[in-house]
Amino acid sequence: MKIAVAGTGYVGLVAGVCFAEVGHTVTCVDVDEKKVETMRQGISPIYEEGLEELMQKNNARGTLHFTTDYREAYRDVDAVFIGVGTPEMPDGSANLSYIATVSRQIAETVERDCLVVVKSTVPVGTNDKVEQFIKDFLVHDVKVEVASNPEFLAQGTAVHDTLHAARIIIGTQSKEAEELLKGIYEPFHLPIVSVKRRSAEMIKYACNDFLALKISYMNDIANLCELVGADITDVARGMSFDERIGARFLNAGIGFGGSCFPKDTKALKFLAREHGYQLKTVEACVEVNSAQKVRLFEKAKERMISFSGLKAAVLGLTFKAGTDDLREAPSIDNLKLLLGAGADVYAYDPKGTERAKQLFPEGRLEQGSMHYAGSPEEALEGANICFVFTEWGEIKKITPEEFKKKMHTPLVYDGRNLYDPKQMKKAGVEYYSIGR
Ligand code: UDX
Repeated sequence: MKIAVAGTGYVGLVAGVCFAEVGHTVTCVDVDEKKVETMRQGISPIYEEGLEELMQKNNARGTLHFTTDYREAYRDVDAVFIGVGTPEMPDGSANLSYIATVSRQIAETVERDCLVVVKSTVPVGTNDKVEQFIKDFLVHDVKVEVASNPEFLAQGTAVHDTLHAARIIIGTQSKEAEELLKGIYEPFHLPIVSVKRRSAEMIKYACNDFLALKISYMNDIANLCELVGADITDVARGMSFDERIGARFLNAGIGFGGSCFPKDTKALKFLAREHGYQLKTVEACVEVNSAQKVRLFEKAKERMISFSGLKAAVLGLTFKAGTDDLREAPSIDNLKLLLGAGADVYAYDPKGTERAKQLFPEGRLEQGSMHYAGSPEEALEGANICFVFTEWGEIKKITPEEFKKKMHTPLVYDGRNLYDPKQMKKAGVEYYSIGR
């Protein structure tokens, strides 16, 4: 089938590339001319395993195209997928301005009946409005329907998650739309759950917020474990065998970040409030997470007289391993606190340094300074304190002896529970982690 995809972020680009991979003819549209040019050369604007290979393969066989010319892209297709961002507004609601812009462009350019499929995460009821909006602005005498098809990919495993998704959710208001969307997904051979449009929109929030709640619950329990002398790693292991709970997303740590959980918990809280309902569980999850992000810094503050002039090694900047994304990463809150307290920060991250430099440029500040190290060893050399924020393999494999040898004062605050407390103690490292 002929498909256009609006937006080439994680959602749009990965969807477009995977649709081409299973045999559809795809045109991806983005406003950024430079980005489009690099994508034409098979270079991905985001780091995602396996993505560039598929881009290059499908560029070469002529099934994948990139353009800024939305008129040409939307004019004559079976479906337009919308994968643009819905960033958080200051009040926690979702910003729908990119969705509105694309909807208007679609309305003004489609020349044949087509299905508009919203992949972006949007508040329940938005797709009804998108459909009305497109109908209001249609230029040609054609039939356009809107369907909801939320995306569940996780960063770092985006291509795999798309090609091997646990399920495809499709939300439609007519048999024709349902059949067309099922046809597009048929070559993936995945289970399809077909529901009404508003239910599909809600499934996305309910899933993300449930996982976020699970993490905040484990963080809450971990904090209690510390007070009562239990070990959260053992507690999680014990819980994981209960199939009703499941083994995944039980890792306590420094709090969740990324482009989805923080935004989607706040958006659902906002949606509920808009409807006169207080979603207490989700509100508690948001609260627990903000406190969790700075928990280790707070602990370190109790231990130190001052951070001024101290060399602080920071290992890991991205919100999780396997991505170069720093959005809502716990490292950001902590770097602000450390630099604000006058520390000389030496940060290491295998993929996130370039993005981090845009937020925290290298150099001396009024008090404290920011530096980027080329390896964990370089960051640790002569450090007075170390914070671990991301579970990268190369950070995980640092031995307790290395911390002891490299650091001036072997004092480690580990937000990912990467090391064995007994081994750390044995090597002479003062070690603090989460919930044990
Ligand atoms: C998430 C969802 O998993 C995905 O389905 C949705 O489409 C988008 O949001 P993503 O943000 O890429 O994906 O990452 P994910 O792996 O879910 O991790 C999110 C955050 O939770 C990270 O900061 C991670 O470190 C944290 N996390 C995850 C924990 O703290 N503990 C866990 O056990 C799991």
